[in-house]
Amino acid sequence: MIDQLEAIHQDALNTIADAADDAALESFRIRFLGKKGTLTQAAAGMRDVSKEDKPKVGQKLNEVRQALTSMVEDRAAELIAAKDAAAAKDTDVTLPGRRPQPAALHPLTQMMDRGIKALRQMGFALASGPEVETEFHCFDALNTPEDHPARNEKDTFYFNDGHLLRTHTSSVQVRTMETQAPPIRVIAPGSAYRRDEIDATHLSVFTQMEGLYVAEDVNLGDLKGTLERLFQAIFGPKTPVRFRPHFFPFTEPSFEIDIQLQPKGQAPRWIEIAGCGMVDPNVFAQICESRGDDLYDPDKVTGFAFGLGLERLAMIMWGIPDIRWLIENDQRFLHQFV
Ligand code: PHE
Repeated sequence: MIDQLEAIHQDALNTIADAADDAALESFRIRFLGKKGTLTQAAAGMRDVSKEDKPKVGQKLNEVRQALTSMVEDRAAELIAAKDAAAAKDTDVTLPGRRPQPAALHPLTQMMDRGIKALRQMGFALASGPEVETEFHCFDALNTPEDHPARNEKDTFYFNDGHLLRTHTSSVQVRTMETQAPPIRVIAPGSAYRRDEIDATHLSVFTQMEGLYVAEDVNLGDLKGTLERLFQAIFGPKTPVRFRPHFFPFTEPSFEIDIQLQPKGQAPRWIEIAGCGMVDPNVFAQICESRGDDLYDPDKVTGFAFGLGLERLAMIMWGIPDIRWLIENDQRFLHQFV
């Protein structure tokens, strides 16, 4: 039997090199080590070996089984190595590695996140509305008369069917009040479109963040406190904030907000960054009419609204001199915000 085992071993040694791929190797394994394989069959002969020969023959059987098993494993490893080598044939592994490019959020997104974070801490929830709007939601419901300059074709992108690209996010105020009962406290960041001549401070699309708070007893102090807090959260707790009387059709009184900043190496100066005001009672009256109820009765609720341009804030924050850099996707520019 020892001879038989040695013959099997020799046979395996002679044929292992023929196992040129995974399938051939598997046939090899089955031929010798499978349930009906030659070695398995030979092992059955142990039954007939005499008692005194058993240890020797048993040892031989184990050796041969061990040898054949390693042969199969080694061959499998060789086949994998050969496959890897073929795959890497055209690759120059001596080339230096390519450093992965660190990525980060776009400065405008970073700015938006800061604003959203500060306002959420003050209890504002996110709201949104369509960018292709009706004249009603963009203007009429916001107390903006037919002859207001903002409605001019020179300033606004109109579609032939009377829809338009919203000129501000204030339309989300209307949509929110149409569908939600007071009290509401929402912010709506998003794109707005105007037919501006494109230059270093104007694009025809920009990003606004609208805010609206309506409840039973909202007053001007709430408005000032909220916005002071917002801008100090973004630009630092000591940043001076000033409210200048202004006019918007949908708020009364209305203000523009300036913050005082000191650009590096320059004298401090006031920079206009947002519009705001107390929601005009005419807006509430229009909402009541649209809803067909009196939840927004101007005698019962008051509110404030604000809108800020996020490009402007980002430009101030990082000293970006040209708004176009924010949309050009020039890596040399964007990499500074990683
Ligand atoms: N919608 C105004 C604009 O785009 C900003 C604004 C929002 C003013 C809310 C007052 C209240 O200029």
